Amino acid sequence: MTLSALKSQTKLTAFGVYVPDRILTNNDMEKLVDTSDEWIVQRTGIRERRISADDEYCSDLCYAAVANMQARYAVNLADVDYIIVATSTPDTFFPSMAARVQAKFGIRSCGALDIQAACAGFVAALQLANGLLLTGVHRKILIIGADALSKATDYTDRSTCILFGDGAGAALLEWTEDGTLLGSYTATSGASGHHLYRSSLSADIDGHPIQTTGKIVQDGREVYKWAVTQVPKGITALLENNGRTTEEIDWFVPHSANMRIVESVCERTGIPLEKTLASMELFGNTSAASIPLALDLAIRDGRINKGDLCLLYGFGGGLTEAAVLLEWSL
Ligand code: ACO
Repeated sequence: MTLSALKSQTKLTAFGVYVPDRILTNNDMEKLVDTSDEWIVQRTGIRERRISADDEYCSDLCYAAVANMQARYAVNLADVDYIIVATSTPDTFFPSMAARVQAKFGIRSCGALDIQAACAGFVAALQLANGLLLTGVHRKILIIGADALSKATDYTDRSTCILFGDGAGAALLEWTEDGTLLGSYTATSGASGHHLYRSSLSADIDGHPIQTTGKIVQDGREVYKWAVTQVPKGITALLENNGRTTEEIDWFVPHSANMRIVESVCERTGIPLEKTLASMELFGNTSAASIPLALDLAIRDGRINKGDLCLLYGFGGGLTEAAVLLEWSL
């Protein structure tokens, strides 16, 4: 566990998102597997999710989120000096999605890398970008959380396929004298990693045999128990270390995995549910995209305002956690 009262020279200056057009509702899921709208809504809070077209991949989701950012804010991407893409579903391991974004938008030769922290990826990218900006070497960083989870979902497994959807969120982070990233928290429970995985080359995780389908596999109950235990601890530690209380939080933005997890975390920490931003009802669990998609819903309906104190909390595969306290700056 790493705690810090953060030194920050990061300010979020632009923001964009994308979800594919195709909608898969719970009623559609009933035609694929033995399930029901009632079960899915009650157990997860999910009503529908977006599914990328057959020829639409993670890179396309990244491009569309950045294009959306360009359409909404007067941004100059030419002098971006680092690109970080958080994803668990890249089109290819290399070239990275970040290198593809650099080429697509004609960004000058700059740093480009993909990171893999599953559903904690977007917040982890924020933390890394802050570190790069603090060095003084970097001034403008583009981060993207993007996942085409439908491409890695087993649509014969009713315990996972009802959960996942596709989407992307992009943010531009710029160097500033007084940063608006106010606190940071990270934690990892690596010994429990085999409860949630997507296989690659090996059929084993440290002695635990795994399915080698390349699809997402999870023991939902184990992940659920871990999340509702660890996330409240992390919130308490992050707030205490930064001299803040739950009352001061304007918006709690947890990874939108499951509404029941969010409700349980709110109950255990005393954060009112009304102060929570979530995206799973409309988009399912979109992994690295779920936090930006929740923020975007609140930007569009005017709930979130400049100066609001936000607690972003990513958690998922690894099992890993990444959280920040952020003063909203748009
Ligand atoms: N429709 C109907 N019944 C179902 C379905 C379904 N889609 N899926 C499972 N069931 C059944 C099970 O077979 C089981 O039946 P049984 O009692 O006859 O054996 C029953 O429902 C209960 O199953 P559980 O797995 O105990 O259901 P639970 O209430 O735990 O809900 C869920 C499952 C939604 C997956 C939940 O465990 C969960 O959300 N876990 C956490 C998931 C998560 O947060 N992942 C995090 C990150 S994902 C990432 O990082 C990529």
